[in-house]
Amino acid sequence: MTTDQLRSKFLSFFASKGHPVIPSDSLVPKDDPSLLFTGAGMNQFKDYFLGKRKDVKRAASCQKCIRTGDLDNVGKTPSHHSFFEMLGNFSFGDYFKEEAIAWAWEFLTKELGMKEKDLWVSVYKDDDEAYNIWLKKIRIPKEKITRFGAHDNFWPANAPEDGPNGPCGPCSEIYADRGEKYGCGDPKCGPGCGKCKRYVEVWNLVFTQFNRIGLNKLEPLPSKNIDTGMGLERLASVMQGVETNFETDIFKPIVDEIAQLIDDPAKKSYANSDKEGTGHRNAVADHVRAAVFCIADGVLPANTGRGYVLKTLIRRSLVHGKFLGFEEPFLYKLVDSVVRAMKGGYPEMGSRRENISVIVKSEEEKFFQIGEDLRVDLENLADSLKSGKKDTIPGDKIFYFHDTRGLAIDLIKEFAGGEGLKLDLDGYERLMEEQRKKSRGATKLSGDIFSETLTAAVVGTGVKSEFIGYDKLESDAVVKAIIKDNKPVKEVTGPSEFAVILDVSPFYGETGGQVGDMGTIEGKGFKLEVVDTKLIDKIPVQICKLTEGQVKSGDTVKAKVDKERRMAIARHHTATHLLQAALRKVLGQHVNQSGSLVAPERLRFDFTHFKGLTGEELEAAEGLVNDYIRRNAPLKVKEMGLEEAKKSGATALFGEKYDRNVRSWVTKNNVPG
Ligand code: SER
Repeated sequence: MTTDQLRSKFLSFFASKGHPVIPSDSLVPKDDPSLLFTGAGMNQFKDYFLGKRKDVKRAASCQKCIRTGDLDNVGKTPSHHSFFEMLGNFSFGDYFKEEAIAWAWEFLTKELGMKEKDLWVSVYKDDDEAYNIWLKKIRIPKEKITRFGAHDNFWPANAPEDGPNGPCGPCSEIYADRGEKYGCGDPKCGPGCGKCKRYVEVWNLVFTQFNRIGLNKLEPLPSKNIDTGMGLERLASVMQGVETNFETDIFKPIVDEIAQLIDDPAKKSYANSDKEGTGHRNAVADHVRAAVFCIADGVLPANTGRGYVLKTLIRRSLVHGKFLGFEEPFLYKLVDSVVRAMKGGYPEMGSRRENISVIVKSEEEKFFQIGEDLRVDLENLADSLKSGKKDTIPGDKIFYFHDTRGLAIDLIKEFAGGEGLKLDLDGYERLMEEQRKKSRGATKLSGDIFSETLTAAVVGTGVKSEFIGYDKLESDAVVKAIIKDNKPVKEVTGPSEFAVILDVSPFYGETGGQVGDMGTIEGKGFKLEVVDTKLIDKIPVQICKLTEGQVKSGDTVKAKVDKERRMAIARHHTATHLLQAALRKVLGQHVNQSGSLVAPERLRFDFTHFKGLTGEELEAAEGLVNDYIRRNAPLKVKEMGLEEAKKSGATALFGEKYDRNVRSWVTKNNVPG
C-alpha cells in the first residue's frame, strides 16, 4: 500500500465515523509565538481542547510536523525524522476511550488488514479503564498489554512532573511486531525493548482528560478529549514490509536520486555494504524534504529562529554530502524528486518547485564559499595553539567549528590528526548536550501556549461580528463584547487599552501584512479612540482607548474609520500587487511574496529571489509600476472562487490558508490584478 493510499484511507475512514477532515495547518504556527514549528496534529486544535471553541466536536487530519530535538539521530536509525506527517483523529468532549480504541483497532486490522497476532498494546500504569477496554472489549490477551509509566505512556511525556501546564493525559500505544528477524532473541523482548527494533510503536492514543496546573497537580478537564497521532512514514514502512522508513515509496526515489548524483562509484549503490554511506544518504533525504516544506511555508534561511533551523538543515545536509563526495551545490537538484514524491498529499508544491530550488541553491553556494575561509581559520587556530605550546583543540572551538560553521566532526578530527593535535571531545559533548536541551525546549510545547490569549478570549465570547468596511466607512453599531487583559468585562471606565467587538464593523482588521484601521467609536456620553484593529477568527476586534466617559456592553455607538488613512492604505495595497507583477516580469515567475507591510505612509514588499537586484533590474521594475499607474485603469472588485481567481492571474501568498472565496480585482488595459 502506498503512502498516498494510507493517508487517504485514514482520512476517509475517520470521515466515515463522522470526523470533518481538516487540512494540515502550516508548519509555522499562526497565533502561537511560543512554538517554533508545528510539532503535532493537535496543535491547531488547542482552543477546542480547552473548550474555548465548539464549532466541531470531532476532526481528522494529516498534519505536517517538524521536530528538531534529535537531529543527530536522523539517518542513523530506521525512523527518526525532522519533518514528518502525523495522522490524527480528535474528539473535543465527544467520544472517549472506548470509541478511540475500537476505531484504531478497526482501522489497523480491517482497513489495513494488519494481523491481530502482530499487534501489541501498552497503557498508562494506572489506567485500568483503557486496560479493561483492550482486554474485555477488544479481547487482546493480557500478556500482550503492557503497563508503562508517565515517561512512555503520558502525553506530553512525563507531563505530571515536567510540565508543560495545560491539557494532558494518559495514553495507550499500539505496537506492530515486525517479526523475529528484527528481534534480539531475548525471551523478555517485547514493546519498549531497548535492545532491538522488533516492536515498533505505530499509534499513540492520548486520552486528554486533565489540565495540569503545577507540579503533579492534575485537575480533570470539563470535557474529555481524544488526541491520536500516527506517524505516516513509520506506518508506511510497516505496511510495505521494509526495514527503514527510507526504503518506503516516498523516500526511496529521493535516496536513489542522491545515489544517482554521487560521483564516487563506491558509494552509489543503495544496497551496498557501505552502511555509513546509507546513513548519510538517508539524512540528506530527510533534511532536504524538511527544508523544502519549510520554504514552502514561508521560512527563509536566517541566523535566528525558524530561519536558523532551516539553515541548519541545509548545512547538515551539505556536511553529510561531503562524505558522499559532493564538493559543490547538489541539494537543489533534489527539490524536484521531493516535490514528485510528496505531490499526492501536497499538489500545491508543484508550482513552487523552481522557486524553492533557487532558494536552496543560493544557501548552498554560501556554504561552499565559506569552505575556503574555514580552512584558513582552522589553520590559524592550529598555529596559535602550537605557538602557545598547546596540543589540544578546546571543546568550545570544536563546538564553534561544528555547530556554528557547519563542519562535520569527522572532518575536524581529520584536520587535527593531520596537524598532530588532540581534541577535547568531552568538553565539546557537554556543549552539544546544552545545545540539544535548548533546541528540545524550543520545539517542546511550552507552558504558556494554553494560557489565555486575546484569540481565545474573543472566540470564548461566542460573539459574531460582520465586517462591512469594504462598502462603508461609518456605521451605527452595538457593543457586543469588551475584553480587557484577555478577559471579558462588562464595562470600562479607566484609560488603559481594551478590545471592543461590535455587531457590525467598518474597521478593517490587520491581516496579510495590511495594518488595521484606526478611527473613533462614539456613544452617548463617551468616546473611544480606535488605535488598531485586529482580525481574529474573522471578527474585527477594535483595540481602543477611552477618551471620555465610560463604555459598557450593549451600548449603541457610531463607528467611524479614519477615511484618509484607509484610502492611503488602499493605494499602497494596490501598489504591492503592481510591484509583484512588475518583479515577476523583470526577474522571473519564481518571484514570490514572502511578506509585506501595507501602511498609510509606506509599503514594504518582501520577496524571494536568489541574489540582490542590479540597478537595471530595479529601474525596469520601477518603470513598469509607474507605467501601470499612469494607465489609470478602472478597478472593479469581484468576489470569486479561489481557483477562478488563481486562473485569472491573481497572485496568492503560498503557505497561507485562503478562504474558498476571495476578493480579487478585474482591471482593464492590461494592468495586473
Ligand atoms: N499529541 C500526541 C503525539 O504527538 C498524539 O497525537 O504523540
